[in-house]
Amino acid sequence: MIYSFYHITDVHYFSKKNFACDWRTFPQPSTQICILKSEETFKKALEIIENDDETDTVIITGDLTNHGEEYSHTEMQALLREFTEKGGNPYVFTDTHDYPHFDIYSIDEKGEKIPAEHLPKEEVIPMYYPFGRDKAFDTFDDGTTYIAEILPGLYYIALGYEFTSEDRLHSPAFSDELMEWVKSHTERAKEKGATVICGTHWPIVAPSPAYDVIGKGNTFAEGERRAKELANMGVRLFFSGHTHIQCMKEIVSEKGNKLYSVQTSSLSGFPPKMRKITLDTDKGTVSIRTIDMELPDLGMTFTEYARKGFLGIIESIPYNMEHDVEAFANTEGGISLPKELILSHPRTVMYLGRKLNGLTYGKAAKFSKKYHDLKESDYEGVKDRKLVTLLLELVANLYRGNAPYSPDTAEYKIMMGCIRKIERLLSVLHIDAKKFLSGYTLSEFVEPLLYNSGPDDDNVDLSVK
Ligand SMILES: [Fe+2]
Ligand SMILES: [Fe+2]
Repeated sequence: MIYSFYHITDVHYFSKKNFACDWRTFPQPSTQICILKSEETFKKALEIIENDDETDTVIITGDLTNHGEEYSHTEMQALLREFTEKGGNPYVFTDTHDYPHFDIYSIDEKGEKIPAEHLPKEEVIPMYYPFGRDKAFDTFDDGTTYIAEILPGLYYIALGYEFTSEDRLHSPAFSDELMEWVKSHTERAKEKGATVICGTHWPIVAPSPAYDVIGKGNTFAEGERRAKELANMGVRLFFSGHTHIQCMKEIVSEKGNKLYSVQTSSLSGFPPKMRKITLDTDKGTVSIRTIDMELPDLGMTFTEYARKGFLGIIESIPYNMEHDVEAFANTEGGISLPKELILSHPRTVMYLGRKLNGLTYGKAAKFSKKYHDLKESDYEGVKDRKLVTLLLELVANLYRGNAPYSPDTAEYKIMMGCIRKIERLLSVLHIDAKKFLSGYTLSEFVEPLLYNSGPDDDNVDLSVK
């Protein structure tokens, strides 16, 4: 059998009804999500599916709304109803941002944020049952877990979980009872010759060491062990969102069974993407294709627009340090440095900015010359390029996956040369970077931001026998 379906996640829908002022004159806030475009992006995604002759099916793995505003939920529900009436077949899961955990706001007449009406979690969860759980043939009694036959012979398990941390918002975990329930279904599926795939909001394993460090507690407790258990049950594909990072991870159990963790970035964040999956159970192959979201009339691609919103502030830091200390202070240095501290030392800030902007690949190559095999002529073409542009690129690479600097490039050799020299200096000073990097070395932290050595994060053909 050949099965096709879509994966969408982290829509973060923000209703325009949340604006008392004219939303068209409201500047796009510098956040991860293009809240001004989330409606257009979601409608576009549904239109793509509606126009696809191969499938009407989509799994959506949570963060349906921006922060759980009532208007956003009622509109999201209406759009899913309309989609279903036109023949769409959605399988929805609600999660963190759909419940009132965060600062829930609307925008008043003056364009200021004010608290907004929200819905309690107990009301949100059943709102979406018609778009998932009501179509299930069995449910687990945590309120969110279900198993549905999303296409004839293809079972999808949306997995609920428990939080194991004290703040009840970190370190999710699958209970032993839930895993037993999943196992009983995978065994029955095997008897019937059906295929089982799984999904939830949070990634089962971290997309990268850098995310493991900055997003501590944002992946499953014992996720790798659970991923291997699922692989041994015959599950090959596991879909998630939450990190807003585009990533494909392969986990192999001790018995040699594989599970692919398909992590899709936010539909209205940076980079704005959705995926189409085509599974051929006779050949034992899966083809995963990524669609970059596009919107008209932006004067740039939607990916560039989303990048500006998300990384714009970070990308302006080096310039502002050297040339506009006031603007740098207003972003609190981008890293929460006190504004007063910045403004009381403008000359120091400008000096540091000049030094940072003055760093070039050439200077970095000389600094690390014992740690790479490049001759001056090898990096002649890039020697005057600013190192700061590469550093900013590494931040973008964390989110978009597929970092382009393979080990044979000058960029890779220079950057990793610098990292190895810094590691050497740290070891002389008896400083253990692993203590600050969740057990990773500095090299392990940086290398995946330069180069993706695993499966392609966007488009990949896999064997899932
Ligand atoms: Fe999200
Ligand atoms: Fe999330």
